[in-house]
This record gives sequence, C-alpha cells and structure tokens, in this order.
Amino acid sequence: PTAAQAAPAGHTPLTVAHRGASSIAPENTLAAIDAADRLGFEWVENDVQRTKDGELVILHDNSLARTTNVEQVFPGRSPWNVSDFTLDEIEKLDAGSWFGPKFRGERVPTLEDYMDEVEHNDQSLLMELKSPELYPGIELQTLTELRRAGWLGKEHVKKRLIIQSFNADAIKTVHNLRSDVKTGFLGNPSVADLPKFAKYCDQINPVHTAVTREYVAAVHGLRGPHRRALDLYTWTVDDPAVAVKVAGLGVDGIITNKPDVVRDALEKH
Ligand code: G3P
Ligand code: CA
Repeated sequence: PTAAQAAPAGHTPLTVAHRGASSIAPENTLAAIDAADRLGFEWVENDVQRTKDGELVILHDNSLARTTNVEQVFPGRSPWNVSDFTLDEIEKLDAGSWFGPKFRGERVPTLEDYMDEVEHNDQSLLMELKSPELYPGIELQTLTELRRAGWLGKEHVKKRLIIQSFNADAIKTVHNLRSDVKTGFLGNPSVADLPKFAKYCDQINPVHTAVTREYVAAVHGLRGPHRRALDLYTWTVDDPAVAVKVAGLGVDGIITNKPDVVRDALEKH
C-alpha cells in the first residue's frame, strides 16, 4: 500500500527503509537509498539538519563524529556538531568508510542532492526534521527546498511525501505553512491527547515497544487534517518476530534498518 492508501488492521504494513537500507549501506547516504531501491523498497526515511552556513544536509546525529571521519579531518573541533561546520567543510568528509571500505568517498548529502536521487529512483520519502529546535526556521526552509525540487506538486504531496518529527511544534508549523503536506508525530502521546495531534498530524509514529492493539485502534479511530483515519508507523523494527507481532497489531507502517528481513518475515506470515 502507499501512504495514501494505508493498510487497515490485518493487512501487510508498508515497509520503510530507515535512513535508507542502513544495515547494508551507510545510513542517510545516497548509497543507502540506492541500496533500498535495489532491494525494491519505495519508501525511505531520512533526517534533515542544517550547517553553520545555513545549508540543509542529511544526517542523523547532531554530531558528525560517528558517521564521518571529521575527527581526523578537523581535529580539535569537538564535539563536531553539524551546526558548527560549513557545507564546504562537510563536503570534505568521508561518510562511508566507517561502515565499510567499499563505501569510501560517500558524502553527507545535501537535501537537494538527496531529493534528486529519490526522484531518480522513483522513491517516496518519510522525512524527519531532526532536532528542529536547534535550527530556527528549518520548517519553512525545508518546504522551500522541497518546492524547488518539485516535491510540493500534487502528485508528490498526495503519494510520496510525509514530514515527521519528535518536535510537535515543528510539525504544527509545517502543517500551518503547507496544510496539504502529510505530517507525522514521532512519539506516543496518551490516548486522551491524541485528538489534539489529529488537528495537524496524519500519522502517530511510536517506538515499537509502545504499540498495543488498543493504541492502534485509538489512533485509527481519529481523523486527521485530511479527513482520513490517522495512520501509525512504528520504529525501529529489525527483529522479524517483532515485525510479525506489530503487523498483527494492525500498524500501517514498519520503519526498519533491515527492510529485506522485515519483508521476508511478513511474507512468510
Ligand atoms: O523514523 C523513526 C526514527 O527515525 C526515529 O528515531 O533516532 O532513528 O531518528 P531516530
Ligand atoms: Ca529518523
């Protein structure tokens, strides 16, 4: 199913490649989305942040240290936060070798390059605004870049784009700026609080340990800003037994580093 036609309870959930196919290629790189594409996965997840000179890039951690060679290239710049480096500096970094020698030379992608690749692969995007509280205005900037990339046209907005965040205010801002764009809240608000989220969220996306049949039913029982029942995508599920379990609980999407493993598990059940 596509996000626009999410599965009702009992149907196979959509599988989303978390940070790309990040168990077989370095997370959040073009190699990771290409790997997901080669495995046949349409939906990929990523994390957007901003450089010191205001450019949007794709990176999960606030620091560049874990997934690049920044400590070698720029010693003494601890804690190597993405917000303390210019795009020029970040483009000098190797974002692949930490994962394996064959990925040497892989770069931290700009949002623009990333969107080009997703479009080229004909994939769809679950985009996370990561730590938006660190980057004032990142909601409008992201939407502006998406528009320039052709991703706010009707077709993309309807079927190929969801913007999510752990930060409810950021999601509210995205919704207020572009009410046609689908949004997701990362977390598990109480059932009593869900109606507030349904005013501006199309999805509630909790950690898998918080998913129960009752919670899924509560989410599905509400209509979002686009008058459809809310969806629930859960993360990060790499264990096939857990994938089968949450599918049985009726989730609409499973966000996983191992999309091939999850697909196999769901197909066997
Ligand atoms: O898409 C869900 C998941 O990405 C949230 O956690 O820390 O991997 O960004 P994190
Ligand atoms: Ca993420």
